[in-house]
Amino acid sequence: MELSNETRFLHAIEMGLGAWQWGDRVVWQYGHGYSDEDVRQAFQISLDEGIRFVDTAEVYGNGRSERMLGQFLKETDQPVLVATKFFPLPWRFGKGAFPRALKASLARLDMESVDLYQIHLPTPLISIDTMMDGLAECVKSGMTRTAGVSNFNQSQMLAAYSALARRDVALASNQLHYSLLNRTVEKNGTLARCQELGIRLIAYSPLEKGLLVGKYSVDSPPPGTRSRMYTGLLPRIEPLLKLMTEIGQDHGGKLNTQVALNWVICKGALPIPGAKNPKQAQENAGGLGWKLTNEEVMRLDEASDAVLDSLKSG
Ligand SMILES: NC(=O)c1ccc[n+]([C@@H]2O[C@H](COP(=O)([O-])OP(=O)(O)OC[C@H]3O[C@@H](n4cnc5c(N)ncnc54)[C@H](OP(=O)(O)O)[C@@H]3O)[C@@H](O)[C@H]2O)c1
Repeated sequence: MELSNETRFLHAIEMGLGAWQWGDRVVWQYGHGYSDEDVRQAFQISLDEGIRFVDTAEVYGNGRSERMLGQFLKETDQPVLVATKFFPLPWRFGKGAFPRALKASLARLDMESVDLYQIHLPTPLISIDTMMDGLAECVKSGMTRTAGVSNFNQSQMLAAYSALARRDVALASNQLHYSLLNRTVEKNGTLARCQELGIRLIAYSPLEKGLLVGKYSVDSPPPGTRSRMYTGLLPRIEPLLKLMTEIGQDHGGKLNTQVALNWVICKGALPIPGAKNPKQAQENAGGLGWKLTNEEVMRLDEASDAVLDSLKSG
């Protein structure tokens, strides 16, 4: 697989930082239990630990996440790679919507260009060809270095790849849900196809929104919408968590969160865990700098299969 020069940098990044938590009240209860200052420190600690890639979106906290990132970037002299996303709202159609939305994101970020501009999700309201026309225009105008998609299934991704190629633009990435508790992209061949084509698979929710950390259980479920989301999984995850802890011990006391992130890296994807405070960010950064063995990855695969199979069989 030949990587294009423009997208090569994404393949050199092992882990990033997700910024959905920055300002979001719907899923993450921003302002309850964590504040602007916690998030600022989470960002700072991540940089100190060598994380140089942040993923945000225009819809996170209704623009607040982008604004906060813009502010934090001014407070550091470290180079940081920035990815943001276009949300296909129903009244946005035509290729002109893409550069317009990116311009507004850049104004919130107070930047002249980003490193990666992604379509947040596909929509039946805009054809993939039109979307890629808009994305290619964003690349050609210099407002983004590369173009990516998110939540595109394999055939949508291939259509995007070809549509961009016709415009001499490489599809840099597909951002998809991927964790020890959600392996759809691995099982349906999307991960392998990404690797074949040089498309970086950016793994979102790599900690399964906190479930893989080991702090939630049936008796102590996560707050808010997450408890409903995970009623099926929560009673089944104990054996997997136990194995993660056991394997972590064999690596000098690595935490479950670090095992979960290292597993994603071993699979060849780029995890972007979200963190609400400096402690979480620091712990997550410890997912880097060491490696699970092939045999450990296999044992984790088996334990995760057992959870996911029992979920399927109800
Ligand atoms: N493209 C998309 O459609 C899409 C969708 C989802 C996410 N994303 C991106 O992916 C990023 C990550 O995904 P995510 O935020 O859904 O989930 P995640 O990274 O799997 O989980 C993050 C949550 O887990 C908990 N946590 C994280 N580190 C922890 C630690 N060390 N110890 C204890 N708890 C910890 C925190 O929540 P609590 O403390 O409340 O438990 C945190 O908010 C997002 O920020 C966003 O950038 C993209």
